[in-house]
Amino acid sequence: MNALLELARALCDEAGLEPSVVPDVHLRAALKRRQLICGAPTLEDYAARCVARPEERGEILDELLVRESWFFRDQAPYELLTALASTRWCNQDRPLRALSAPCANGEEAYSIAIALAEAGHSLSRLQVSALDLSQRGLKAAAAGRYEARALGQLPAPLRQRWLIPTATGHYLVHAALRECVQYQHANLLALPAALTAQRYQVLCCRNAMIYLRPAVRRRLLEQWMSCLADDGVLIVGHAEAALMPSRWLRPVGPPGAFAFEHAPVDAAPRRNAPPQARSAHPASRPPPQGPTRRPVAPAPLAEAAALADRGRYAPAAALLEQLLASDYDQVEALYLLGLVRAAEGDVAAARRCFTRALYLAPAHQASLEHLALLAPDGEDSAAARRLRRRSAHAAAPE
Ligand SMILES: C[S@@+](CC[C@H](N)C(=O)[O-])C[C@H]1O[C@@H](n2cnc3c(N)ncnc32)[C@H](O)[C@@H]1O
Repeated sequence: MNALLELARALCDEAGLEPSVVPDVHLRAALKRRQLICGAPTLEDYAARCVARPEERGEILDELLVRESWFFRDQAPYELLTALASTRWCNQDRPLRALSAPCANGEEAYSIAIALAEAGHSLSRLQVSALDLSQRGLKAAAAGRYEARALGQLPAPLRQRWLIPTATGHYLVHAALRECVQYQHANLLALPAALTAQRYQVLCCRNAMIYLRPAVRRRLLEQWMSCLADDGVLIVGHAEAALMPSRWLRPVGPPGAFAFEHAPVDAAPRRNAPPQARSAHPASRPPPQGPTRRPVAPAPLAEAAALADRGRYAPAAALLEQLLASDYDQVEALYLLGLVRAAEGDVAAARRCFTRALYLAPAHQASLEHLALLAPDGEDSAAARRLRRRSAHAAAPE
């Protein structure tokens, strides 16, 4: 089992996943499932099969990737896209470019195409690219055939215009819509040059960054900054909005759209101007501008965040414990300590930190998200779902 576990861990590492997101119990369960599917009598037999068939690596990875998605997820981002497509992007002769990265089973990419087309843009002018690491997801995306529950928040009139009900109770995306989306297999850690050479009006990177290691997430954000058109929007997931650096990006649209555009400052990293690596942790970011300005992050917290970002967990934890023993911003310190403990592999201690942060600030979204990921019975358990519901509620506009 050890060699198999090592293989599964290496695959997660290649995908950039934060180790605490995929605990050993998940890895073991995924390997067991594959063993049964392959009909291998024992795990040793299955391990031998993995050596003989390198393509089995992709199957294990697919077993670990979470492809949960649905049409018009969160709704507000798509309403914003339709609004921008009929105002900001209406008078241009170039194609309207969008990227869905990652796209899971294609629900997001088709939703983007629908939202843009609904503003009156002809399908021939839409160029939607989409990528994912999951081969199973990409196969489903290309087929464009969905169960009713995948239609999620897609309004009924749009469903009638863009999807065709089948005799088996599924829904098939219109051929013309399928043609304007190009899918490809790619890793967010090594984006193909052909994709990064473009500039996109719509860049969707939702519900994936939260699972990535902080350093990977930072590099990816820098990449997105250079791919985002000057008049473009970057849309992220609700738990990711708090991770966006206000120095580079400012919110656009209603809060529930989790959409951002280039901030009008010189420091924003653009094409041909590679940015300095910056911490994704709130404590080391500058405060937002305007009426919502918060106090400048206190230096020791920023210092602890910087240590943690460099993988120096022991000194980061020591500094945070020291801060917690004093009269300090307890919530952010507890949250950061939770991240550090999870990175060290001490899941129980991480849970205690996030729980204490939530005791002080029940709507602290990042703690809710992380606690859900670390739920004792797995991230799909009832407890995890309850935490995610609380998190979604915390993110919902007033
Ligand atoms: C929860 S889904 C999000 C799908 C969609 N963006 C949404 O918000 O509905 C996360 C997706 O990220 C993909 N993924 C995870 N790590 C990846 C990586 N390193 N490169 C590309 N895709 C990745 C998974 O395969 C999965 O389909």
